[in-house]
Amino acid sequence: MKKFNRYTITAALPYANGPVHIGHLAGVYVPADIYARYQRLKGEDVLFVCGSDEHGVPITLKARQENVSPQDIVDKYHTIIKSAFERLGISTDIYSRTTSKTHHKTSSDFFRKLYDAGEFIEKTSEQYYDEEAKQFLADRYITGTCPHCGNEKAYGDQCEKCGTTLSSTELINPKSTISGNKPVLKETSHWYLPLDKHEPFLRKWILEDHKEWKPNVSGQCKSWLDQGLQPRAVSRDLDWGVPVPVEGAEGKVLYVWFDAPIGYISNTIEWAEKEGKDWEKYWKSDDTKLVHFIGKDNIVFHCIIFPVMLKTHGEFILPENVPANEFLNLENDKISTSRNWAVWLHEYLDEFPGKEDVLRYVLCANAPESKDNDFTWKDFQARNNNELVAVFGNFVNRTLVLTQKYYEGKVPEITTLTDFDKEALAELASVKQKIESNLETFHFREALKDAMNLARLGNKYLADSEPWKLIKTDPERVKTILNISLQITANLAIVFEPFLPFTSKKLLEFMNMEKAGWDKLGKSDLIAAGHQIKEPSLLFDKIEDDVIDAQILKLQNTKKANESNAPAKAAKENISFDDFTKLDIRTGVILEAEKVAKTKKLLKLLIDTGIDKRTVVSGIAEFYNPEDIIGKKVCILVNLAPREIKGIESKGMVLMAENAQGEMSFISSIKDFKPGSEIK
Ligand code: MF3
Ligand code: ZN
Repeated sequence: MKKFNRYTITAALPYANGPVHIGHLAGVYVPADIYARYQRLKGEDVLFVCGSDEHGVPITLKARQENVSPQDIVDKYHTIIKSAFERLGISTDIYSRTTSKTHHKTSSDFFRKLYDAGEFIEKTSEQYYDEEAKQFLADRYITGTCPHCGNEKAYGDQCEKCGTTLSSTELINPKSTISGNKPVLKETSHWYLPLDKHEPFLRKWILEDHKEWKPNVSGQCKSWLDQGLQPRAVSRDLDWGVPVPVEGAEGKVLYVWFDAPIGYISNTIEWAEKEGKDWEKYWKSDDTKLVHFIGKDNIVFHCIIFPVMLKTHGEFILPENVPANEFLNLENDKISTSRNWAVWLHEYLDEFPGKEDVLRYVLCANAPESKDNDFTWKDFQARNNNELVAVFGNFVNRTLVLTQKYYEGKVPEITTLTDFDKEALAELASVKQKIESNLETFHFREALKDAMNLARLGNKYLADSEPWKLIKTDPERVKTILNISLQITANLAIVFEPFLPFTSKKLLEFMNMEKAGWDKLGKSDLIAAGHQIKEPSLLFDKIEDDVIDAQILKLQNTKKANESNAPAKAAKENISFDDFTKLDIRTGVILEAEKVAKTKKLLKLLIDTGIDKRTVVSGIAEFYNPEDIIGKKVCILVNLAPREIKGIESKGMVLMAENAQGEMSFISSIKDFKPGSEIK
């Protein structure tokens, strides 16, 4: 295996248009922090870099909605996110922002270098233009009628109702959201990165040279490669972003996904300037291991586009690994900012002071490493009470209290070791290798289990040896038992530092010890006989039902508010009875379901309609996981003319109820009728 002398660890730059929630944390920031802390503890040279992603259309839209400037928006959220990360102990070496001077210069120079080397192609196309506002319109700034389902509020990039990806010129009756006018088509030219040209390189680099990448990551890359890569525009007509550094490119900025990943480099430069370090080593040396922590929606940008940018630039190393995670759900429902269905980090920190590590623990234990996962408040409570309090906290507390009680806080010496002691010590010694191999391969959930097993070992050792009984009959033996228990406790301070840094620090304070390096893990001489420890307090507190109930109620209220705030839509125009009878709606049952590649919202369903078994593409992926809906009874409009969606022929339409927030639910007959029953 290659030996690296340095680590550059990046965590996806969060968009500064909203606060961070537990989904972001479990997917990206907690694992990145664990990895960075672990490598530092091993004595490695680590740079952990993050910052706010402050460009892009959504930020300008939000600013417009709130009648403030984009700068106001990013200032507000940059501050909220930065401070929330700090409070959770996310130990970035720098958390800067893409509106910084350094970033504008770095990304501008980067573009210019590729431009001068002829790495872009320039293409002219027709784009919608608002003549009153005198500006080109990003897809999100155009609404109109969806050509597929008739939804009148479809966006220029996508219809939220049927989930189809659109281009703005497909919309019927397009309207500018800025002036409300009908936009006109106008020619504009942009620069494109010809990804197709780099396909052979990407294939080899990802699929052959990096077979160790997680299957969810290489699988997504392979699917992109197999579908054929297209040139990607790297500029936009927008007045918010890094200006395109080419003469005659007034009114054009770098596409946000071009400048944002360069932010990792810009922020490194800023850090190096502050710390008096050489930034180039972290980005240009072959012995530096570059690792990107991201969520699954960022895979194409970090595994395909950014690597092509880095490689064509020529001076930079490529990522060694991109351990992307899947998504975390909340109480069995997709996390959604617009529906306020989230646990916001800054709110958690205010509502659960001193419980930073509990959240870190639960999010790591439930990390969506290989599939989407669920966060529930009941599970949060159970993990705190049954694992942190009952195992970890209980062991440490008993050890420290007994040491105070029997020896006035002075570490007793080992007298003689029994086989029972030797077994415990052997187990202690074996932890290090196991946990290391899990951490090095990004299996953080397993690694956390290994760490917890050490606390379990201690707990069991103490419970089985019962020093509180032996103290009267065999006091010499008790010295050994407590010495070993204290050694295990000292080991817990090391092994939990990457996962639960606040707890680790508290442990060191109780033990009156300096922080020890990772190489000490597994040793049974971490704390010398005669050493004076301090009066302990509880490491973790039980979380009572009322606290959890309050959180559940808060979420229920969110659901209710979402439901009741919006009045029901006005009824549509009357239709004749004949019109109605033309609709042939039947009961059906879902036989198979899978996601449609490269879409966020579409599921491909195989439905038994009683008449036949047919394929229907449905825009419900945000609300249902494919594996959960096999066997579900539905209603289906069977005589809708077939149409092609994403290359799949879709026959008919599954009927859905949709609430005011756009959340969808299947509808079905209340009695258990068999497929094919008519609905009239
Ligand atoms: N802001 C993006 C998101 O939240 C992530 C940007 S990662 C970077 O999905 F590499 F572009 F910085
Ligand atoms: Zn539609």
